Amino acid sequence: MSVADSINERGRESAAGKIHLSTSLKIVVVSAAAEVGESLRNIVNTITGSKIEIIESDIGEVDVEVISKAKPDVLILDFKLDSPTDLECLGNLLQNGASDCCVIATANTSTVEGVRRLMRLGISDFLPQPINPDDLMPALQLAARKVRLTRPSGGGKVVTFLHAGGGAGATTLAINFACATQEQNKDARICILDLDIQFGQVAINMDLKSSHGVLDVLENPNRMDAMFLENVMTHHKSGVDVLVAPDILVALDAIESELAVHIISVATELYDFVVVDMPLALTPWSQAVLGHSDIAVLVGQLTIPGVQQLRRLAGILSGDGLNDVSTVFVVNRYLGGWKTSIRPKEAERVLGRKIDYLVANDYKTASECVDQGVPLAKIKRRSAVAKNINNMTKGILTLLLEKQGAILHEV
Ligand SMILES: Nc1ncnc2c1ncn2[C@@H]1O[C@H](COP(=O)(O)OP(=O)(O)OP(=O)(O)O)[C@@H](O)[C@H]1O
Ligand SMILES: [Mg+2]
Repeated sequence: MSVADSINERGRESAAGKIHLSTSLKIVVVSAAAEVGESLRNIVNTITGSKIEIIESDIGEVDVEVISKAKPDVLILDFKLDSPTDLECLGNLLQNGASDCCVIATANTSTVEGVRRLMRLGISDFLPQPINPDDLMPALQLAARKVRLTRPSGGGKVVTFLHAGGGAGATTLAINFACATQEQNKDARICILDLDIQFGQVAINMDLKSSHGVLDVLENPNRMDAMFLENVMTHHKSGVDVLVAPDILVALDAIESELAVHIISVATELYDFVVVDMPLALTPWSQAVLGHSDIAVLVGQLTIPGVQQLRRLAGILSGDGLNDVSTVFVVNRYLGGWKTSIRPKEAERVLGRKIDYLVANDYKTASECVDQGVPLAKIKRRSAVAKNINNMTKGILTLLLEKQGAILHEV
């Protein structure tokens, strides 16, 4: 079951039924056939934030300058596979107007040999006609992942922390992950987005006083760009910037999916690592945020209800459009030995997967860290809890690197 389905089950609105790619795309289509442009426009209109421009022309007649000025992320070309001019123009486009984008070909008649020839020339994918969403979406998903990795800005990685039960420690782990990442990567720019918009605790836990944050974005959604975001961030002494949650009560649906995704996209332009702290409740925008995350960290506790909640949350995360999001399972406040009501191995059997990290229970150090507004490692570097978090951070950063390598290899 997807996040949106589960919200519907509870009688809440779905995230407007839109599809979310890991970044918004500018798609340019060159086709002389109006119905090809129209069917692509209808599909792209179901994707959040992506734009489509249609040039009604034969490929042979299209001006390379016009394409290069349009700066598409994805160029969809409607070919006549038996036309030597079309193939010649593809070569020209790939070298000039479209050298930096994903080129997808389509044709109303195709032969294996014709498609192979296009592949050899360097197209990313081929769509048979009539074009349907099942063929187009995987091609766009792959293009979006490539764009996110190769855009000079917008290349920041997004790690989102969720919890399967109140007080599991998601906020604590999100803050400590961000600070440990900063410690391990001195030059990196790191931010935390406190999207627990009703009861966000990041500012309190990091001892930040700020009159700016998420509320400014909610009040000025149209002004939200890199400069605006920089201005509403609060700097923590660790080096990490924080977009603090509102200090007044706002409705969970005060933020819309498009805006939540926009905040994340802009943050990835400014920061190398964007850490998102989510509310306990599933919201109409949860799926959109997760769809734009590289890694979702699920935090739970090793109790019978804790494991059941974790299993339920994991089920939701295996839903629609979230296949590209890697999940990391963390059991926090782990007591160890005979003190746990359920052992890690039993929990793994219930969950049907491995628990990636166990973080020791240490209430004294955790509270002291909140009192002083510093990461756990600053209070007691050699404590089990600080070592566990350090280990978890290294593991998540390695996973991000592996993902990047795998995607670049795939494209
Ligand atoms: N490893 C730990 N050992 C002991 N106490 C911890 C540990 N991690 C977090 N805590 C404490 O647990 C409490 C809840 O932590 P936190 O606010 O991070 O949880 P949360 O999952 O974000 O909860 P919420 O539902 O409020 O968003 C805090 O008092 C925190 O100091
Ligand atoms: Mg929290």
